[in-house]
Amino acid sequence: MEYPVDAARLEGDLRTLAGFSAPSTLGGVTRRAWSEEFFAAQAWLIERFEEAGLAVHVDAVNNIWGRWEEGSLPAVVAGSHIDSVPSGGAYDGCLGVLGALEAIRALRAAGHRPSRQLWVVAWMEEEGSNFGTALLGSRAFVGDLDLDDAAARRDLTGRTLAEAVAARGHDWSELADLPSGVDDIGSYLELHIEQGPILEAAGLPVGVVTDIVCFRAGTVTFTGVSNHAGTTPMEGRRDAAVGAARAIVAARDLAVRHGIRATTGRLSATPGGSNVIPGAAAFSLDTRHRDKPPLDAYLAELKDQFRIIADDEGLTWDYSESYDIDPVPLDPDLQKLFGSFCEASSIPYQPMVSGAGHDAMALAPRVPAGMLFVPSRAGVSHAPSEYTSPEHCALGADLLARAMARLSE
Ligand code: GLV
Ligand code: MN
Ligand code: MN
Repeated sequence: MEYPVDAARLEGDLRTLAGFSAPSTLGGVTRRAWSEEFFAAQAWLIERFEEAGLAVHVDAVNNIWGRWEEGSLPAVVAGSHIDSVPSGGAYDGCLGVLGALEAIRALRAAGHRPSRQLWVVAWMEEEGSNFGTALLGSRAFVGDLDLDDAAARRDLTGRTLAEAVAARGHDWSELADLPSGVDDIGSYLELHIEQGPILEAAGLPVGVVTDIVCFRAGTVTFTGVSNHAGTTPMEGRRDAAVGAARAIVAARDLAVRHGIRATTGRLSATPGGSNVIPGAAAFSLDTRHRDKPPLDAYLAELKDQFRIIADDEGLTWDYSESYDIDPVPLDPDLQKLFGSFCEASSIPYQPMVSGAGHDAMALAPRVPAGMLFVPSRAGVSHAPSEYTSPEHCALGADLLARAMARLSE
């Protein structure tokens, strides 16, 4: 360890942050963005930033910034997100925020005097688990969000995103000013758990991310006709759930053929009575690939299948896209920098592609962005058993501290 990163303190912070969770019979951490527990976690985080001597700024979309204001701009920024998926883990995103905070504490303890400002950021709603649009805070910040579309998005309670922003004391029109802040950022660093099995299987403590896969996601809805479950003959039914079920299987089968990752994690039938033929059925569809053309080809062919299924079942269908995010290469110089630190300390590492989305995707087209991965036990993430050892978390924070120190010399 080059800087005095405190593995136990970092682990303690991760545990404390995990405590801000809605109850769930499935266990794990449930901290949807914009929820009560989410804002309680933000308040705790703000106190930790202040305790570390950082000046706190909360922007219009509720990204939280902790600024070490010594030195000049543009700043070196490190961070990630603290919202979670339902019944997720304690490390996804949180390690990137708390690891950056720990890196700053270690740099201060080591007497580092930055000539450029060092900032920590916790981006708002990375997971899209409340308003259904991933990378919300980071995309709003760089100006890569359709503000009219976003304002009208509704969460499960029916509240619009514009109303949620207003409830935090900001006017929606302020979001248009956020991108002017991009010029204040010189580089962006994100430490993250791998969320996959590669590092553990290879026995490596570190991955240096080269690219992040592209993803397209949306909601598919089949619409038919509701009727009585007992009196309506099987022939001639227009059962939306049957259409959705066939479509989900088609999405999986076609994904296997095309080498795509495709997932349905949310599924509903309306009106939702066990003795009612559902008149509508909707499901989420999350699709990913390293390259864009195969993903686009997959979705085009899948829509043909939806058409065939709908015709067969007497239904109509619709695909409403929530996002279409291009694959993103990360900055080659930052990859080299991380690699050189590993080589200097004989830390084995490998370059790797990220199959998960990250806020770095939003930043990378605008500022040099770099990402580091540390191993996930058994490759598990977005689940309660997500785990990364305190030693690996601390190693990640130390490498982050080294990069922050070098870039602010
Ligand atoms: C972010 O967690 C993703 O879904 O990749
Ligand atoms: Mn995640
Ligand atoms: Mn994440």
